Amino acid sequence: MTEQFEFTTNKEQTDHEAVSINGDTSVFGEDVRADAKQIIARYPESRSALLPMLHLVQSVQGCVSAEGIQFCAEQLALSTAEVSAVATFYTMYKRRPCGQHLVSVCTNTMCAALGGDEIYRKVGEHLGVGHDETAGTPGEEGSITLEHAECLAACDLAPVLQVNYEYYDNQTPEQALELVKALQRGEKPAPTRGPALSDFRGAERQLAGFFDDLESTVAGTSAAVETVRGAQLANERGWTAPSMPDDVEMPPLPEKK
Ligand code: FES
Repeated sequence: MTEQFEFTTNKEQTDHEAVSINGDTSVFGEDVRADAKQIIARYPESRSALLPMLHLVQSVQGCVSAEGIQFCAEQLALSTAEVSAVATFYTMYKRRPCGQHLVSVCTNTMCAALGGDEIYRKVGEHLGVGHDETAGTPGEEGSITLEHAECLAACDLAPVLQVNYEYYDNQTPEQALELVKALQRGEKPAPTRGPALSDFRGAERQLAGFFDDLESTVAGTSAAVETVRGAQLANERGWTAPSMPDDVEMPPLPEKK
């Protein structure tokens, strides 16, 4: 496990009743508990709500803390071992408090070859931090957590980086550096596509499924010209994929537990 999560996965911890992770869940107030109820109500089985619940706790604390693990376990009737197993598997769940902004630089093959490695090096040098480290005090304005990311599914726009999961396409090291400096000054430069830039905790709230200002969230450009070029070509040439028959028998929905 990690230095922050002071728990183990011994046999006792698989028993929900016996779990003790020493997390004080009072940090999650009535409003957060009401949000949790809304999330849980979306699913036939409460345990299916774990992923958005972890995003909800990150929207409060900027990471998944021991309290966050305990809170999710209590709300979903899971063991803390079960919750921590999920929280430590996905890189989007942060174990240390994140900065105001999370900057993810793609260093996978296409981006790396087109300058992603250089972007990561220059930004890291400027911030004085490495992977998964924060420049500034986490949560305070201008603080930035840097990470290198695997393919961000935008190879046609390489090299790319994301700030709080919003895209900045076709970056040069100089542009990336200017972007990071602007973030440090408290500015929020517009992403290439998608909604206006928020901050890490705001993005986490959206990932939990709460869009407090839906209109502005969907107002930005949603697709790049490069990305839709294939669909346009197919359209022009009359290419189609077989459609799904109308009479496919769907499996029954599970009962709500
Ligand atoms: S390699 Fe960077 S987006 Fe795919």
